[in-house]
Amino acid sequence: MRGASLAFAAALAATQAIAGPLLSRNNVGTAASTPWPAIPDPEQYTKPDGPARAYPVSVAKGVTSEHDNVEMKLDTVGDTLTLDYGCDQAGIPFFDVTALGSEYAQIEVKYTEAFNGLKVNYSDGPFPFANGLSSMFRVEALNITQTGELKSYFVQGSQRWQSIKLIKGSGVAMKTAGFIATVDQAPLASFPGYFASSNKTMTDVWNLGPRTQQLACFPPGSQVSTWEIDAKGAYVHGQKPATTIKGANAQNYTLSFETMIDRGGLGWRVDNEVDNIWASGPYLVLTSNYPEGSFANYNRSLVPPNSLVLGRGWSLQNQTTLTGFHLDTFPIDFDVTEKTWHTVETDSPGDGTYTVRLNGKQIAHFNLTAYNVGERPPYFPPCAYYSFALAPWQDQAAWYRNVNITLASGQNFYSNPMTSQDVKIEYGVATNSDYVCSDAGKRDRFSWVGDRQISARSIEAAGQFEFVRGPAVQVFNHQVPSGEVPSNMLFSELDTLGTLGRTESLDLILVDWDAKFISTIYYYWQKTGDTDFIKSYWPQISAIMGYIAQTSIDPTTYFGTNGGSGANIYSTCLMVDTLEQVVEMGQSLGYNSSIMTQYALQAQLSRQAVEHTWNATGGYFAMPGSDFAVADISAVERTKIGTPEQRAKFWSLLPSRAEPGGFVDPPAGANKFDLLGGGVKISMNVAGELLWGLGEYRDGKTAADLLMRTYAVQADSASRNYTGGYWEFLSADGTYPGNDLETAQSHYWGGFPTAFMTEYVLGVQPTTPGFATFKVEPLSDWSDSWVQGRVPTPYGLIYTAWGYGSNGKIQMEVTAPKGTTGTIYPPFSGSFSVNGKSGQSGTATVKGGQGKVMIMQE
Ligand SMILES: *[C@@H]1O[C@H](CO)[C@@H](O)[C@H](O)[C@H]1NC(C)=O
Ligand SMILES: *[C@@H]1O[C@H](CO)[C@@H](O)[C@H](O)[C@H]1NC(C)=O
Ligand SMILES: *[C@@H]1O[C@H](CO)[C@@H](O)[C@H](O)[C@H]1NC(C)=O
Ligand SMILES: *[C@@H]1O[C@H](CO)[C@@H](O)[C@H](O)[C@H]1NC(C)=O
Ligand SMILES: *[C@@H]1O[C@H](CO)[C@@H](O)[C@H](O)[C@H]1NC(C)=O
Ligand SMILES: *[C@@H]1O[C@H](CO)[C@@H](O)[C@H](O)[C@H]1NC(C)=O
Ligand SMILES: *[C@@H]1O[C@H](CO)[C@@H](O)[C@H](O)[C@H]1NC(C)=O
Ligand SMILES: *[C@@H]1O[C@H](CO)[C@@H](O)[C@H](O)[C@H]1NC(C)=O
Ligand SMILES: *[C@@H]1O[C@H](CO)[C@@H](O)[C@H](O)[C@H]1NC(C)=O
Ligand SMILES: *[C@@H]1O[C@H](CO)[C@@H](O)[C@H](O)[C@H]1NC(C)=O
Ligand SMILES: *[C@@H]1O[C@H](CO)[C@@H](O)[C@H](O)[C@H]1NC(C)=O
Repeated sequence: MRGASLAFAAALAATQAIAGPLLSRNNVGTAASTPWPAIPDPEQYTKPDGPARAYPVSVAKGVTSEHDNVEMKLDTVGDTLTLDYGCDQAGIPFFDVTALGSEYAQIEVKYTEAFNGLKVNYSDGPFPFANGLSSMFRVEALNITQTGELKSYFVQGSQRWQSIKLIKGSGVAMKTAGFIATVDQAPLASFPGYFASSNKTMTDVWNLGPRTQQLACFPPGSQVSTWEIDAKGAYVHGQKPATTIKGANAQNYTLSFETMIDRGGLGWRVDNEVDNIWASGPYLVLTSNYPEGSFANYNRSLVPPNSLVLGRGWSLQNQTTLTGFHLDTFPIDFDVTEKTWHTVETDSPGDGTYTVRLNGKQIAHFNLTAYNVGERPPYFPPCAYYSFALAPWQDQAAWYRNVNITLASGQNFYSNPMTSQDVKIEYGVATNSDYVCSDAGKRDRFSWVGDRQISARSIEAAGQFEFVRGPAVQVFNHQVPSGEVPSNMLFSELDTLGTLGRTESLDLILVDWDAKFISTIYYYWQKTGDTDFIKSYWPQISAIMGYIAQTSIDPTTYFGTNGGSGANIYSTCLMVDTLEQVVEMGQSLGYNSSIMTQYALQAQLSRQAVEHTWNATGGYFAMPGSDFAVADISAVERTKIGTPEQRAKFWSLLPSRAEPGGFVDPPAGANKFDLLGGGVKISMNVAGELLWGLGEYRDGKTAADLLMRTYAVQADSASRNYTGGYWEFLSADGTYPGNDLETAQSHYWGGFPTAFMTEYVLGVQPTTPGFATFKVEPLSDWSDSWVQGRVPTPYGLIYTAWGYGSNGKIQMEVTAPKGTTGTIYPPFSGSFSVNGKSGQSGTATVKGGQGKVMIMQE
């Protein structure tokens, strides 16, 4: 479904926010003093020609969070340096080596967002969930053979801390080390959108948004392939084994391939779920004889030389939510040589047993079921595709060629010489051809579509519209004939079969995510007025809606079900929003078919279904027999279910769910999806939704409380855990990343404060798509002395501020770009002056291009 994407180039030019200064905006009267400083224009910034480099702010001896500025010298094995970059950086690690005291030397380098990662063996990884075109390991070994610049092969996604330890050789000195940035380094002050407050915490929290976007959203071509294809075959460095749909679902077969180990060994999987949320097929790692010169830190207990290691799950190691099992090690009684070709065969007759042969000799036979661990849990829906996958283990590298699947009947099922560049697309490891937004900078670099319902709003507040539209194009490009768009996706360019298989592999797990995608599109349209975009994708939007309606509405009760999750309030509210948004977009375009009427009716029925869940005794909406949920309070508010009185009652229950770190439902002991375990954690996604709901409920006091409980700690630049980005989880006590080292700390699924400050605290929102008309309606119970900001629109920037003068009265200024008209709702009752004209009340109007409107409470 790529055809429509061409239409975007034009749309892009038309909707780009114009960030130029508005000369007329400070021309009203004399320079009357305001409670706030002058609102700055965006800073000029010219992108450097080549990639920018990021350097550490501190280099210290040993593993320490103390800052220092020592020379980078590693004299003897064991010497270690700690580098701190002050906040998250991302890119290709480089090392400027100035001296080498031995023929060659080896270093072990760790990368981590939280400092504590440097103190554990695997740092804050590995992250073997997706082939995300960066390293899944957070520890790597490098061989230094000469002075000059040494570069790592893989991109490291997001890290603030780094350690470098000498593990072989001597006398290594470096002038510096750092990252060749693979993410945008534009200063935040150059973004069109801007927010500042007298309350520094609020300013700092807003600023987490644009930096998270830089760390988690990438332009086309920026995430380069992690496989190399040449005449010898596919050369693959240690990473998550990548898979193909073409070889999927073979029964009773032998997988065979030829391989040449470049260093350490190789790995592969068979009968494994294709890019799913579980991995139950056997994971096989074959090690070499580790000749002289091999990496000194190969873990000889986990992956001994001349062995076949058997694992299951995500990896041979555990990483909190990504369980991995190390099941067995089969010693091989001959030398597995490097730099020579071998043939590897794996029989899978389909009864749970496997036989592996190396160069025709059996090296292992096992019954996977008999190990009795790692089976797919029954509450995960079955996966549609099982296939083989290829890639070596950590710090290994190998070639693969002539891959075949031969059925027991002798028939060939799959055959690939692995010498064509198409292999990268087939295996999902090609460079990103679209804009992509990842789950998080360092981790799980799948593109999760649902998270963007929250993040896109903040990206819009910062004025980076191409990072909303571009990733939406990627989603449309991967729509399958059922109308479904994948709830998550690889960054890689994919072929049609690869897209279909990977989408169906997750079918019905997260239909809500498809609904959230519609919400993203709807708000994008509101912010940009990009009607051409909606028009060009209308058939696809309709197809998504059709898919959601068919798979996720209970036809008798009208509750939303999120596909397989069963009837629930949250999904139903989301369903109502989605239907109503589609109807609004469709009607605005004049698409007034009977289907619009049907959707409007469906929304009405689903709305009533939730209304009937009102529990008058408890004062909440909940499914019969269930307790209420925090996320539902916000969902019901946003969808405006029930009466204002009912919703106010529901909100009054929120404080009963307070923890120091935020608001959260009781420990979900019975929740089978609570994979994280270990007690209460504050989900930032729920926090983001709650903040949005509080904006709609116009409760600035609770919103400020939430911001302080949940987000202030993330903006504390004095903390060792500060990254400059939003976190994914928070501990219930509100002091540290909730899922420890697994927590992504440049993660946008809860990054709503940036949007919240702009849309509710400054109070600027479009009232017609594209801001031809807009309102400025700040929350009246916001307590900061002043706030100010710039709001990007297709016409240019709106500048606005409000705050308390020395007389305790509120003042306010708004300047709008030409082509827009704004209605100002001052955040107080009673009379005010407008540009000196006293005795006004109600609302005021600001006309674009006609200077600043100054409002003074009387
Ligand atoms: C870390 O690695 C060392 C060396 O292999 C080992 O002795 C230690 O037990 C490991 N620590 C953990 C927590 O696995
Ligand atoms: C910022 O606002 C919060 C919430 O109103 C308040 O708790 C905090 O003390 C304020 N901080 C400053 C520095 O004004
Ligand atoms: C795979 O099949 C091709 C063609 O069918 C054959 O030439 C090649 O030798 C086979 N490779 C292996 C490793 O069996
Ligand atoms: C490191 O370089 C040395 C010298 O060229 C070589 O002998 C050794 O095999 C290399 N080791 C690895 C793991 O690449
Ligand atoms: C080596 O592997 C063992 C498991 O076999 C693990 O406990 C240990 O932490 C690993 N050591 C390092 C340094 O990674
Ligand atoms: C990972 O954790 C599970 C328990 O959740 C345990 O059964 C398994 O042995 C662990 N895997 C490794 C490699 O330590
Ligand atoms: C494999 O192990 C399972 C569980 O122990 C057993 O039920 C099954 O019969 C075994 N399969 C074969 C082919 O031995
Ligand atoms: C696999 O195919 C072979 C040869 O046709 C047959 O003997 C064997 O029973 C089959 N295995 C299973 C588990 O069906
Ligand atoms: C579309 O249908 C709605 C509801 O039936 C109606 O109010 C509206 O006027 C119609 N618009 C057009 C353009 O026909
Ligand atoms: C309504 O709320 C009360 C108080 O929380 C609770 O005891 C009761 O079970 C709820 N009713 C239903 C039908 O869930
Ligand atoms: C940072 O995070 C770690 C690990 O999650 C936690 O133990 C620590 O208390 C946090 N705070 C600081 C200041 O390091």
